[in-house]
Amino acid sequence: MDRRMLVAGNWKMYTTSGEGAALVEDLAPRVSDDWDEVEVAVCPPFTGLKAVSTVIELDHLKLKLGAQDVHWESEGAFTGAIAPRMLTELRCDYVIVGHSERREYFGETNETVNRKVKAVFAAGMVPIMCCGESLATRDALETESFVRKQIMEGAAGLDTAEAAELVIAYEPIWAIGTGRTPTPEAANDVCRTIRATVGAMYGPPAAMAVRVLYGGSVKAENARMFFSEPDIDGGLVGGAALKADSFADIVKAAL
Ligand code: PGA
Repeated sequence: MDRRMLVAGNWKMYTTSGEGAALVEDLAPRVSDDWDEVEVAVCPPFTGLKAVSTVIELDHLKLKLGAQDVHWESEGAFTGAIAPRMLTELRCDYVIVGHSERREYFGETNETVNRKVKAVFAAGMVPIMCCGESLATRDALETESFVRKQIMEGAAGLDTAEAAELVIAYEPIWAIGTGRTPTPEAANDVCRTIRATVGAMYGPPAAMAVRVLYGGSVKAENARMFFSEPDIDGGLVGGAALKADSFADIVKAAL
């Protein structure tokens, strides 16, 4: 099965609306020859979604748009929260769910991740569900069992078509923003475990179709090594996604 590579930029809490629009204007000409072959997505903060969506529409860009989080309810008295249908209205394709920063600083659990994953699908978007272990878990040699549990609980209760469409980002917490990475082989081993877990839950066709990204200090210099591993279908990129040239180089590494 040919899985389409996906390179997604997670802009975290860095770009204003204006900065985000400018970044996309800068990025688009650098990757427009590539996005038929590689899916390219950007995930601005909520306040930047409208401006980036407008640039995508007016310039007819084949760039995909993602949000960084969402609430699982479709509306309600949840001050400060954003509902899935507010994101579909802005033509979001993807929503990052369960990033380790959300888990660490905002109390996200596998259970809330699961609710969000289902809500994102129900609204017609695709979740980029994040998983990954801490250094302590890695040192205790518990990475595989820890990540397997995150997948089994986070991706529970989907139908097989949803499971096949799901994107999972494997991001070792100790590699995020640190410049440290696992070897491509070690990252691929965990991505293979993730794929096998999806297979155990939803069957071999879903396992073959689910896209597993690597994230954590992906740079232009190391991207090709990760992307050439058989179970890695692209990357979730933080710091290096904030500059058009470095992000474009990472996209080219996925060609
Ligand atoms: P990084 O972040 O590329 O800056 O390590 C990745 C992420 O947190 O998604």
